[in-house]
Amino acid sequence: MTINRYPPINPRFPHMLHGGDYNPDQWPEAVWDEDMRLMKLAHCNAMTVAIFAWTKLEPAEGQFEFGWLDRVMDLLAENGGYAVLATPSGARPAWLAAKYPEVLRVRPDRGRNLFGVRHNHCFTSPIYREKTALINSKLAERYADHPALLAWHLSNEYSGECHCDLCRAAFRTWVKRKYGTLDALNHAWWTGFWSHTVTDWEQIDPPSPIGETSVHGLNLDWKRFVTDQTTDFMRVEIAPLRQFTPAVPITTNMMGTFPGLNYWRMAPHLDVISWDSYPMWHKADDIALASDIAFVHDINRCLKGGKPFMLMESVPSATNWVPAAKVKRPGMHALSSLQAVAHGSDTVQYFQWRKSRGSAEKFHGAVVDHVGHEDTRVFNDVADLGRKLERLDPVVGTTVRPDVAIIYDWENNWAMTDAQGPRRGDKGYLDDSKRHHRAFWKRGIPVDVIDMEQDFGSYKLLIAPMLYMVRPGVAERIEAFVKAGGTFVATYLSGIVDENDLCFLGGWPGPLRETLGIWAEEIDALYEGDANAVLPASGNGLGLSGEYVAREFCDLIHADTATVLATYGSDFYAGRPALTVNELGKGRAYYIASRNDERFLDDFYGALGGQLSLLRALDADLPSGVSAQLRTDGERRFVFLMNFNPTPATVNIGALSSTDLLTGVPLDKQVELPAYGVIVLAA
Ligand code: GLA
Ligand code: ZN
Repeated sequence: MTINRYPPINPRFPHMLHGGDYNPDQWPEAVWDEDMRLMKLAHCNAMTVAIFAWTKLEPAEGQFEFGWLDRVMDLLAENGGYAVLATPSGARPAWLAAKYPEVLRVRPDRGRNLFGVRHNHCFTSPIYREKTALINSKLAERYADHPALLAWHLSNEYSGECHCDLCRAAFRTWVKRKYGTLDALNHAWWTGFWSHTVTDWEQIDPPSPIGETSVHGLNLDWKRFVTDQTTDFMRVEIAPLRQFTPAVPITTNMMGTFPGLNYWRMAPHLDVISWDSYPMWHKADDIALASDIAFVHDINRCLKGGKPFMLMESVPSATNWVPAAKVKRPGMHALSSLQAVAHGSDTVQYFQWRKSRGSAEKFHGAVVDHVGHEDTRVFNDVADLGRKLERLDPVVGTTVRPDVAIIYDWENNWAMTDAQGPRRGDKGYLDDSKRHHRAFWKRGIPVDVIDMEQDFGSYKLLIAPMLYMVRPGVAERIEAFVKAGGTFVATYLSGIVDENDLCFLGGWPGPLRETLGIWAEEIDALYEGDANAVLPASGNGLGLSGEYVAREFCDLIHADTATVLATYGSDFYAGRPALTVNELGKGRAYYIASRNDERFLDDFYGALGGQLSLLRALDADLPSGVSAQLRTDGERRFVFLMNFNPTPATVNIGALSSTDLLTGVPLDKQVELPAYGVIVLAA
């Protein structure tokens, strides 16, 4: 497939962005010149300003004070810097909450919050929307032509829900629009159960710990509504920005796999995706953590179809909200930052520039510490990374088009987590998705992570771990994908419910039955510590051998048209199928019936990777803990080689002749990576 280079986030600045949340509004002006001096020393070029500055911008209703921000924007421009300018809705002024209590959020127990903290607002309140749109208009109008304005940062980490009268009424309207009739609603929500039949639209209320929690269709629709209402609020924020600054890209900082919002629904309204990444390094297994974070970076790249994203927040040293604030060991700052770039980020940004002097985040890592000067380990790490990023101009706008996609779907997660059975609560969907992803990460095979609504056509291999919910049209698209020659992999707990969380009748995996060629009659959920064995059949075609361990979920399946590649080793279902493949059209569909150990996934995907000749970043065996990721414009290839081990590692890159873009040094056949080392092979 042809790959083109995307334009830079803002074509006015065709370089990697490096910087962070900058709160000059919290500091005396005397400090600002020093900030500018330090920014240049740190090789920072983009500061995210005004995120929580609403009161400073509008100290009293309708009284706007932009003088200070004018000076900050001018200072940035004079010093060769840029502003990622925030809208201030993430935290509202006390006067606003006092005069218009409706802007404050109401909890699921129906109590209204007092003024305090942040992100504590109603997304429906017409007053909050009006005030937000007004201040956004003022900002956009004032800075439309300012040379420092590079991008818009909407609010901060949109999240949460509100149960006020306005939100409840909006939910009723949403439900009415969706279902049209009470009959349709009652059917979708299966309300006959416990006599919860809705006989008047006014009876509909959001789920609440003091009210309804048992109607799963309602729970699901409420979550959908919260996403839609947040998106609607976001669009109110966006409108004036588009009006006054049509050429300035808009983003909002997302939170990875945060379950509260379906980011796939928000992404189309944004120009660029950004996210806040705070891995806890040096805690347990850094290699597993690196692969988990890789999974989330891949989602962020996919949210706009492969377009480079922004690492909007990360910490230069340690956060303050973890149980223990362990600082990054030497090398980890560059490594973890460049890992984001390796997966498609065109920025490395921090929370925050200057460490807060007081309040809740005074011990949160920052580029400039309380000591105030540049002579610190952290500052030097940041400056050193800044120098590296300056060498990555050729990488800006490049991406990757993987042959593999894993479906990780928010609604599927909501429905499965809510389901009471076959295990309670979290079914391990996210972990499972990451485990499948890891098998490729270890081999330097790039992966897209998408939801079930995306186009599957460009992939050779489509993996849908635990596709519990199958929304309309999805099974048909998977079937077409397989018939056209694609390879599809599904697992236990698939094809159980439709988009309303109603169980499919006629046998699991519901609408995927014919594609997979099986019938899943029962699901055995094992107790902790229980295990079964998975025994590959001889001539399984995948080179699987030995005995694999199955835990937690064992589907008891029948092979209808599928061929059995492995069977269970024990219990009353010993000998019954544990792994099957169904030939369909030009393609194949595999079913992994049980949650198997890592070795199974390594062997299984290792075999598929070879058979399907999946795109790899590098044709090399990677030592454990070394990741290889690819970015390309279709002509030049940039391979990021990253060593997440605290010890050196060697990679044989073979005949590939290349240089390390970070240093300009030509590379030998044997590449030595220091502990936590990174090189960027440019070929
Ligand atoms: C979040 C917020 C920031 C800051 C950091 C601290 O990501 O967006 O304002 O509170 O956490 O880690
Ligand atoms: Zn509300």
